[in-house]
Amino acid sequence: MSEYKFLTESDLNDFKLKLNDLNDNLTRSGKKLIIAKSKFAKREVNKDFVKEYENYYKEAKKQFNEGCKNDLFQQNLYEAKKLYNSVNKNDSNFKEILNNYKVAKKLYKGYKEAVKERGFGGELSALNNVALKLQNIKFKYRENHPFAVDDVSIEIEHGNYIAIIGHNGSGKSTLSKIIIGVLEPTQGSIEVYGNKVTKSNINIIRKFLGIVFQNPDNQFIGSTVRDDIAFGLENRRIEPSKMNDIIVNAAKKVNMENFLDHEPLMLSGGQKQRVAIASALALSPNILIFDEATSMLDPKGKSEVKQIMVELKKTREKTIFSITHDMDEILNADKVMVMNKGKLVSFGTPKEILSDKNFLRSIHLDIPFVAQVEEALQNLGLDISGSENLDELVDKICQI
Ligand SMILES: Nc1ncnc2c1ncn2[C@@H]1O[C@H](COP(=O)(O)OP(=O)(O)OP(=O)(O)O)[C@@H](O)[C@H]1O
Ligand SMILES: [Mg+2]
Repeated sequence: MSEYKFLTESDLNDFKLKLNDLNDNLTRSGKKLIIAKSKFAKREVNKDFVKEYENYYKEAKKQFNEGCKNDLFQQNLYEAKKLYNSVNKNDSNFKEILNNYKVAKKLYKGYKEAVKERGFGGELSALNNVALKLQNIKFKYRENHPFAVDDVSIEIEHGNYIAIIGHNGSGKSTLSKIIIGVLEPTQGSIEVYGNKVTKSNINIIRKFLGIVFQNPDNQFIGSTVRDDIAFGLENRRIEPSKMNDIIVNAAKKVNMENFLDHEPLMLSGGQKQRVAIASALALSPNILIFDEATSMLDPKGKSEVKQIMVELKKTREKTIFSITHDMDEILNADKVMVMNKGKLVSFGTPKEILSDKNFLRSIHLDIPFVAQVEEALQNLGLDISGSENLDELVDKICQI
């Protein structure tokens, strides 16, 4: 038809998503600037502090304005019109060229609307049921360093709960940063629901992902629990009329619906982490990553958060990755990834992984409490194995 490669709906969608992301960044830095100014008004910070946030805001604004300028859609329309004007009505491909011209007009109109709406409505769909596919992922922090992640390949279907374990420095956090797009792999490829991750679509792919970090205090922005959950929704420009339902539903999932008007800083560690989970859930990510989300909590907080994770697993609505040093937690997982020196050295069900206790010890991992008790009983000649939790173990002991 023509040498020129005409744009498609998918190009317009990519443009919308990129603009949406730049707008998110702009809103976020605007909010941070307001917070910095109010701190300055209370004399909690100096002028330089505010200046820094002003600079972030200016930069975000500049990037957004540059992102709006895109003459590809105009060029596309120009080329389509040129082709249309050059064709005779009796030509065999007239219909195709006319249609192409119509599409180009529609895309140009769509582009102008996208700028007006600041990229709202861009979408990326799940192309298959494989939540995450890593192929030969390698990563090193510096040229002359060893690989922090060394040739990891794995395929995880949607709805699974995966625990990632490994000794300190085995590459777990590096791997999670690669998955969420903070670090770019030195080698290998990543697909999220069939979408191959590239430099230009990583910000869009991030919409599939939510993450809950270790430190509950670093994750708050709002002055009440409600504001905090609302923050991410505002950035996604969810219709205000729908927001309340989403917030209440997310809070219910973590049993925090009665705390919506409380101040986040007054909550216990476990409650804070539950709010952080609600904030992530409100954005409906398909994949949720917990990077040692329970490690800074007291025993009560730990068990509250673990309980929420188990409840999320039961719904099978999310794919969950939980990086943990808590060997008892792995019993909740469908599958366990064992990392050692950057390599994925084992992958299997908790039972399979725990059946080789000597292997776990050889890579400096503890075995769960339940398995330790079973082992001690086996050494005494008692035939007890495969308990998935403490209750099961107690039942088995009582039946002897
Ligand atoms: N920012 C960095 N710069 C250089 N090397 C790093 C950096 N972060 C991690 N490393 C190195 O990469 C390797 C993997 O570290 P990583 O933090 O991924 O391990 P981890 O399994 O998450 O450990 P932990 O259980 O202690 O959190 C280690 O050798 C670590 O020293
Ligand atoms: Mg780590």
